Amino acid sequence: MPRVTIIGAGRVGSTLAQRLLEQYNVDVVLLDIAPDLPRAIALDLMQARALGGHDRQIIGTNDYWDTAGSDVIVIAAGLPRKPGMTREDLISVNARIVIDATRQALARSPEAALLVITNPLDVMTYLAWRASGLPPHRVMGMAGVLDTARFRHFIAEALAVSWHDVSALVIGTHGDTMVPLPRYATVHGIPLTELLEEEAIAEIVHRTQFGGAELVQLFRNGSAYQAPAAAAAQMVACLLGQRRQLLPASVPLQGAYGVEDLCIGVPIYLGAQGVEQVVELDLTKPERDAFERSVTALQEAIKTASYLVD
Ligand code: NAD
Ligand code: LAC
Repeated sequence: MPRVTIIGAGRVGSTLAQRLLEQYNVDVVLLDIAPDLPRAIALDLMQARALGGHDRQIIGTNDYWDTAGSDVIVIAAGLPRKPGMTREDLISVNARIVIDATRQALARSPEAALLVITNPLDVMTYLAWRASGLPPHRVMGMAGVLDTARFRHFIAEALAVSWHDVSALVIGTHGDTMVPLPRYATVHGIPLTELLEEEAIAEIVHRTQFGGAELVQLFRNGSAYQAPAAAAAQMVACLLGQRRQLLPASVPLQGAYGVEDLCIGVPIYLGAQGVEQVVELDLTKPERDAFERSVTALQEAIKTASYLVD
């Protein structure tokens, strides 16, 4: 039975654990530094089995040895931002958490794939990749699936249609310079640009870019976790070979899009082997300029954090 370790039993980690157990038929190890928290969440979820109709197992622990032999390691440990903070404000405290968690977990599951959730996502994914020593195809960050889900939701809402009909794509960093791509958005195959005025599309793009901050403001003491957990669960399902998807994810680039030695959101084929291929889009000049602004913003952030993993 596939086994997934989730490091960080907070809002995202515990919600992801529930989804993996109940919707994806996966055994879970939930680890946290908070004494008893992971054990309590695991016991609660095990008691829900009789009401949820599955027989999967979850253990909660503070001991990395309990994570040994995992197929996928998910890192959702670290602080979320509070109102007024940027994701980059989290770098110094979360970098050390992610680097340590990566090394501790991989030492006990050397064959695992690594999925990072902790923010600032692209920087944390880069640091985890560097700390892991894994080949680039086995390390990725979850953000583009979440940002694209937001983009799809806002499009569906604007047209009063089901999300089923809406396909879209967001690339770039998981930050204010992310790049929702209206040209690649369709509603039942019809280009979005034929269905909404430019101004309405611009409003949706902006709301997508700041979708995280909107929820941080509303939550006041944390950030989104339902849609992030759902997005991460989809990627875990791909890594376990339950499906193969073309989706956006933050991955180490080594020349694609003219980018080297950086993790940023691009479309990839994701399957049991991890990142099977990076898809290079034929971007227009405005789209490429926006992507390059995203790269530049990220290069600065990664430069300030790289010393932590050298
Ligand atoms: P949370 O505060 O609810 O949970 C974080 C958990 O991490 C806590 O239980 C804490 O005890 C634990 N933790 C802290 N240090 C640890 C360590 N060294 N080892 C193990 N566990 C440790 O936060 P959350 O809402 O679950 O968010 C977690 C992270 O995910 C944050 O950085 C947040 O910004 C990020 N996030 C990213 C996305 C994305 O799209 N990539 C979406 C949502 C949240
Ligand atoms: C979000 C933050 C938490 O996008 O990354 O919700």
